[in-house]
Amino acid sequence: MERTYLMVKPDGVQRSLAGEIISRFEKKGFKIIGLKMLQISRAIAEKHYGEHAGKPFFAGLVDFITSGPVVAMVLEGSGVINAAREMMGATNPLKAAPGTIRGSYGIDTGRNIIHGSDSPESAAREISLFFREDELFSYNRDVDRWIY
Ligand code: TYD
Ligand code: MG
Repeated sequence: MERTYLMVKPDGVQRSLAGEIISRFEKKGFKIIGLKMLQISRAIAEKHYGEHAGKPFFAGLVDFITSGPVVAMVLEGSGVINAAREMMGATNPLKAAPGTIRGSYGIDTGRNIIHGSDSPESAAREISLFFREDELFSYNRDVDRWIY
């Protein structure tokens, strides 16, 4: 089953949106297989956002993502990578569709509340960067026969 890495960024935690965000994905039907709070080190932040190294917003992005605790999760489900991106909305919250997470709760690109993997390759890379294998759970949900 497809997996993705999602994280409520420090602004989302500060604004008490973590539960709301987790709840949206749970209610959609995606399965939480890993969940934790952590504060990201600069070294991990620079790896995580490696594709943006050298861009003008990179230093500010690393400062921001390391500035406070985040809530990290791994979700499993059919088509979860793209579906989670759709549920998040566009990178610029002012351009994000109303009703998406960023469209509902954000204003500024640098404070856009949530991160989500954008491809199977980045999902695999990001999951292994933030979760050990023994932090990911395999379990059956009875409700899956109603979801699928
Ligand atoms: P990006 O991977 O382009 O967006 P997304 O989070 O939607 O995958 O950029 C990573 C983060 O970098 C983005 O969530 C917010 C920040 N950022 C800026 O601060 N300024 C910018 O101009 C861009 C493109 C991103
Ligand atoms: Mg991205």
